[in-house]
Amino acid sequence: MTTSPLTAPLTTEQVSTPDRQWWRDAVVYQVYPRSFADSNGDGMGDLPGVTAHLPYLRDLGVDAIWLSPFYTSPQRDGGYDVSDYTDVDPRFGSLSDADEMIGRAHELGLKVIVDIVPNHSSDQHELFQQALAAGPGSAERDMYVFVEGRGEDGELPPNNWTSIFHGPAWTRVTEADGTPGQWYLHIFDTSQPDWNWENPRVHELFRDVLRFWLDRGADGFRVDVAHGMVKPEGLPDATVNAQGLIDIPEGEVPIYFDNDGVLEIYREWRPILDAYEGDRMMVLEAWIPEQRLPLYIGDEKAHQSFNFGFLQARWGVETMRAAIEQPLALADAVGSPTTWVLSNHDVIRHASRYGFDPDHSFGEGLGRDEVPDAELGLRRARAATLLMLSLPGAAYLYQGEELGLPEATDIPDELREDPSHLRAGVPGRDGCRVPLPWVQDAPAFGFSPSGESWLPQPAEFGPLAVDQQQGVEGSVLEMYREALRLRRELRLGEQGEGHGVAFDDAAPAGVLVLDRGEIRIVVNTTSAPVPLAEVTGGAEHEVLLRSVPVGPTGEDRVAADSALWLRRSR
Ligand code: GLC
Repeated sequence: MTTSPLTAPLTTEQVSTPDRQWWRDAVVYQVYPRSFADSNGDGMGDLPGVTAHLPYLRDLGVDAIWLSPFYTSPQRDGGYDVSDYTDVDPRFGSLSDADEMIGRAHELGLKVIVDIVPNHSSDQHELFQQALAAGPGSAERDMYVFVEGRGEDGELPPNNWTSIFHGPAWTRVTEADGTPGQWYLHIFDTSQPDWNWENPRVHELFRDVLRFWLDRGADGFRVDVAHGMVKPEGLPDATVNAQGLIDIPEGEVPIYFDNDGVLEIYREWRPILDAYEGDRMMVLEAWIPEQRLPLYIGDEKAHQSFNFGFLQARWGVETMRAAIEQPLALADAVGSPTTWVLSNHDVIRHASRYGFDPDHSFGEGLGRDEVPDAELGLRRARAATLLMLSLPGAAYLYQGEELGLPEATDIPDELREDPSHLRAGVPGRDGCRVPLPWVQDAPAFGFSPSGESWLPQPAEFGPLAVDQQQGVEGSVLEMYREALRLRRELRLGEQGEGHGVAFDDAAPAGVLVLDRGEIRIVVNTTSAPVPLAEVTGGAEHEVLLRSVPVGPTGEDRVAADSALWLRRSR
């Protein structure tokens, strides 16, 4: 067997840091509060609903939870449009509900990561309202990016930038005297004006927001649009393609992202976190070219960043191997383990993404004309999950993936809330945000006592409800539990001596084989079973976990589109 070792051992100093730097190999469960559990029957999840189900998450075996925003917000972008960063939206409860949730999580040994949204606020934020009222040239306007338009009467937007949610990235305001006035920048929805990070008062505001949540016990922050805040000097036009859209060459990002000034913000924030006890951290949502990562991550910078390459890798040995090797090499370079993620509230659920021939689709047409093979998708999703959970570093799970939930594709248009749907008519992200099924035979599948649900739940969620899977051998939920238990026991999340990753270059075609010490991970990406003997290298072995129950294929095979973990005797 030929192997290619990838990860260098960490130094003793790195391994023996206080509290072992829990975030390095944590399994973090993302809670999307609107859709997790509704305690008061209004059809929208809330913080008491989260608190009530924390024991479920402890039993699942995760180390931490990350909550998408639950702050005061008009909910034009699912709460990523914040109108008060230091209060809880009444839909989700109150500040004391947040305290209770954090306290209970800590009692159960779970860390709590909250979301911080520093690129933009809601247009209903008090400071934006003051900026509108105060008029051009005022200190109030300077908190946001207000600029005069081009053209004779300023009737044209200041530049040609387009919004991530489609359409122009600028909106013109009407001044107090009723005349058309300045334009404000919004990289996302019109209701999400960008803060002006050139202004020291914006820095001050966010330092206070960090301290507010750190004081309340937050163990860390997930930083939203973490590569966004600072815009290029002079707000220059972007180059556009033939369709008039901002041109984004392969491997690059739009002109308003990943500007060097952003890096200063993490240098400013890090000492704030470090001043608190208990190893507080920040994880960045930064869609940046990977060679830029070392600029963001490190001892005096942010702790870690989502690695979206693995999520974007299509089913197949080469694609998945590359999506593992690259971040591992980079993790060595920055001295911080990578993160792994397959699903979140912005992407098509992986149980549906994998339900296509990878040469033709990764679910891009879902909700329009493409229908995934649900069984195949789930089978591959289970295998990909076992692969992910076998890797060194932190792993981020998204609520409902432990149940094998598919993307909901038949949501009526009039019920969709994603601003990109409202702005451009695309299906958008609502399909991965449908409320969770807890109990098959209960109103709203146990999501809400009243049976209300802000998005309709598809009938196929019923058999996937928690109560249908709990304790059922071979269920997706029990596979996740067992994988998380073994991951912890076998210390698979760790790096260092005996914890490296070594691929087997002599594995059969279509089979990905990698070793973590004596644990071997096998992913059969083909549609035919592979004899176990072909992947054990002739060694004595014990199968620890399979992504699908042993079927007619038998014990001594790796079933098609499946994964297993085995322990080989030395
Ligand atoms: C991030 C969030 C996404 C949100 C956007 C704007 O990408 O994950 O849900 O729409 O930022 O805040």
